[in-house]
Amino acid sequence: AHRLSRRDALRTGSGLLGVVGAMALTARTARAEPWKWSPADSVVGSGDGADPLTMYDPEADSVVADVIDHADVPQVNKLLATWIYNNQPLPAGLPKGLADFMEYARQLPSWTDQGKLASSFEFNKKRGLYLGVLYAFASGMMSTVIPHEALAVYYSRGGSHLKDRIAKTAKFGYDIGTVNAYGDGGEMIVTCVKTRIIHASVRHLLPQSPHWPDGVTPISQDDMMVTWHSLATTIMRTLTAWKVPIPVAESDGYLHSWQLAAHLLGIRDEYIPATWEQADAQAAQQLDPILAPTAEGNDLANQLLNLGADLDLTLLSRGILGAFTRFIMGDRVADWLHIPRESVWSPLLEVAWGPFVAVREGVLSVAPVVDAPYWMFDEFLRQFAMWYMAELRMPLSIEIPLTNR
Ligand code: HEM
Repeated sequence: AHRLSRRDALRTGSGLLGVVGAMALTARTARAEPWKWSPADSVVGSGDGADPLTMYDPEADSVVADVIDHADVPQVNKLLATWIYNNQPLPAGLPKGLADFMEYARQLPSWTDQGKLASSFEFNKKRGLYLGVLYAFASGMMSTVIPHEALAVYYSRGGSHLKDRIAKTAKFGYDIGTVNAYGDGGEMIVTCVKTRIIHASVRHLLPQSPHWPDGVTPISQDDMMVTWHSLATTIMRTLTAWKVPIPVAESDGYLHSWQLAAHLLGIRDEYIPATWEQADAQAAQQLDPILAPTAEGNDLANQLLNLGADLDLTLLSRGILGAFTRFIMGDRVADWLHIPRESVWSPLLEVAWGPFVAVREGVLSVAPVVDAPYWMFDEFLRQFAMWYMAELRMPLSIEIPLTNR
């Protein structure tokens, strides 16, 4: 497949987009408006309020840089692959610094609330059919118009192994919704700690890439929260826009599962919003203003739309996935990504998706307008879930990368 390098991007017709990406990176420590989200609104209610644009993950970063420079990384990855369950002891033989860090990083914070986690499972059980599509076509597509993330993903190893990367990210969305996500037998703590290690690896490796601007460290605390909002906050916003009825305990539970994920990924507690209202307020400062197209992000979005191309699932065609993206993300983002309106599915979604959800959720008992579309929408969700589950059946191991793209 043809892929753009930054140099090609700058030289060819998509040059303007490449320039936007490069500018976003050089301007990354500047903010249009000063950071003013208060740590009083965080899950711990206090903090020093430093701008997260200037913060990284020093505990993980020094340990992981040392492992990459001095340890036998393939051997470490072999050991990491055997560590799967939250309550499983760490494998013997890991470098001491790494093992000490992992013991520390796997601890749940004092504010963990088991009752809320039980409600989170209820939420995931009831909304599971929507969640797979939303993680892919709300959060996944959004990641392609988050310039820092699109560039980091594109120029890291995952950028050239996108299917593998999507499957691993899907596992993250799946693990967080399982019955014992953070308990014995669950896998979410392990997935988060490994991901935290991978992000530290990226901070060490990516600045060595010839494509990466000098003096810029990827994946700041601000970037982490932006991505967090592209997941948790965006999904809650979308379900709310669709008028899916969600009991308060379940929406609070879902938030809690993501607060814990944030903590275990190394986001400082003072940046983790305490409520959905505070999450929304933070996203308005952090996420909404920074969305923009880049040549790299557009290439990733293009690959994401081809997800179903070699499958036997007729409703996962490029056209239908594109129509879904336009419907969920809106015309502005779809136009950035050069996703055309689809002649059948775009109008159908606009007219019938609302009633479909209302009928499915038992809010409406009959809605003649959705008779035929009901079947198609239901089948779409089912085919998506089939694909999703098939991807998850492959053995997946989150590994420390050795190289960039
Ligand atoms: C790797 C999730 C934030 C860039 C990963 C992986 C997961 C993940 C599960 C492992 C996938 C793999 O091994 O291929 C998350 C979550 C985030 C987050 C849940 C926030 C809540 C970010 C941000 C950036 C980023 C903010 C960049 C600005 C990357 C890169 C990799 C990675 C470059 C790995 C490189 C590769 O695929 O080779 N992330 N991530 N992530 N993430 Fe994140």
